[in-house]
Amino acid sequence: MEKITVGLGERSYPIWIGEGILSRLGEALQAVGFPKKVAVVTNPTVRGLYGAKTLEILAESGFAADTIVIPDGEEYKNQTSLMQIYDGLIAGCFDRSSGLIALGGGVVGDITGFAAATYLRGIPFAQVPTTLLAQVDSSVGGKTAINHPLGKNLIGAFYQPLHVHIDVATLKSLPSREFAAGIAEVIKYGIIRDQDFFNWLGGHRDALSNLEHQALVEAVKRSCQIKANVVEIDEKESSLRAILNFGHTFGHAVETLTGYETFRHGEAVAIGMSVAARISRSLRLCSSEQVVLIDDLLKSFNLPIVPPSLSLEQYLQAMGRDKKVKEGVLRMVVNRGIGDCLIQDVDDPQSLFSSILPDLPN
Ligand SMILES: NC(=O)c1ccc[n+]([C@@H]2O[C@H](COP(=O)([O-])OP(=O)(O)OC[C@H]3O[C@@H](n4cnc5c(N)ncnc54)[C@H](O)[C@@H]3O)[C@@H](O)[C@H]2O)c1
Repeated sequence: MEKITVGLGERSYPIWIGEGILSRLGEALQAVGFPKKVAVVTNPTVRGLYGAKTLEILAESGFAADTIVIPDGEEYKNQTSLMQIYDGLIAGCFDRSSGLIALGGGVVGDITGFAAATYLRGIPFAQVPTTLLAQVDSSVGGKTAINHPLGKNLIGAFYQPLHVHIDVATLKSLPSREFAAGIAEVIKYGIIRDQDFFNWLGGHRDALSNLEHQALVEAVKRSCQIKANVVEIDEKESSLRAILNFGHTFGHAVETLTGYETFRHGEAVAIGMSVAARISRSLRLCSSEQVVLIDDLLKSFNLPIVPPSLSLEQYLQAMGRDKKVKEGVLRMVVNRGIGDCLIQDVDDPQSLFSSILPDLPN
């Protein structure tokens, strides 16, 4: 098993990563002094797979656990599900000396974290992420949120968990498309921060796709370490943390314009990273060979790289509405070679995007 610490002073917390370590959840929670009265928040899918086992493990370690089940799906990351969590907590007489455990993917993790941040002005919570995306990204760093009908993640808080518990064995039940979507974020870490990791991913494609646990643990560990390092420097995204949005500006535009139904988030990010690499090349920050390496790695994990055929105008408008636009200037993360990146203001997005995406319809 691997352990990482997210070093944030008195809000520091451990991440445990291993194969079959769900059985050690009780021990891990005890180690951080987690409250003994807990509510496990999950959805019907994950509950069916890991709910009973989790409750059993918690009971064995002396935790009194209730379960709160919210519906499965991004469309339920909303105020109705949040209220359902509060209702369960109030009905179960949960007070400040109790805690929440998020068991599921990023949707469950984000909403549970926000419930924990706000219920009684804040109670402890732990993350037990069960999708690859949640294991390498959303469970680490303390961004919690629900969606508003007018946009994703518009209501939220920075609120760090007390513990993150990653059992890569849970990935065995994950649909392959969800796995690939998570790999997009893993590849992102290599491109923006660690060339050696990027190369390692290329060399371990088969091991990862075959869910070989040593490779999975290594990929998750290195991803979490990179995210932890960034968050330690800039917890609330006032500067450096924005680099984690590599591929997201264009990716969000793809998601918005296709109604969040055609692409998984990671797939849209894969398209966004391929586009960002082309922008980087046009700014002479990376070579054509490096663009090909990035595209090939994404494609080797069955990730899309070609933007859907929508007009440039639609893309520019959608990017203009993105949270990453500051004072009217489009701000994008671009890779510098592979393993490094920078944040770049784009003064004339129209001509830049039309030069790198000449095939889009008018
Ligand atoms: N907080 C952050 O920093 C951060 C970062 C990235 C993404 N996010 C958020 O994460 C969410 C996306 O997360 P996601 O991709 O995990 O989606 P998700 O939570 O919807 O999970 C995807 C699907 O997989 C199912 N599932 C979960 N674990 C499973 C398992 N082990 N086996 C089989 N099925 C399983 C879920 O029930 C769901 O149907 C978005 O809401 C996004 O905004 C947050």
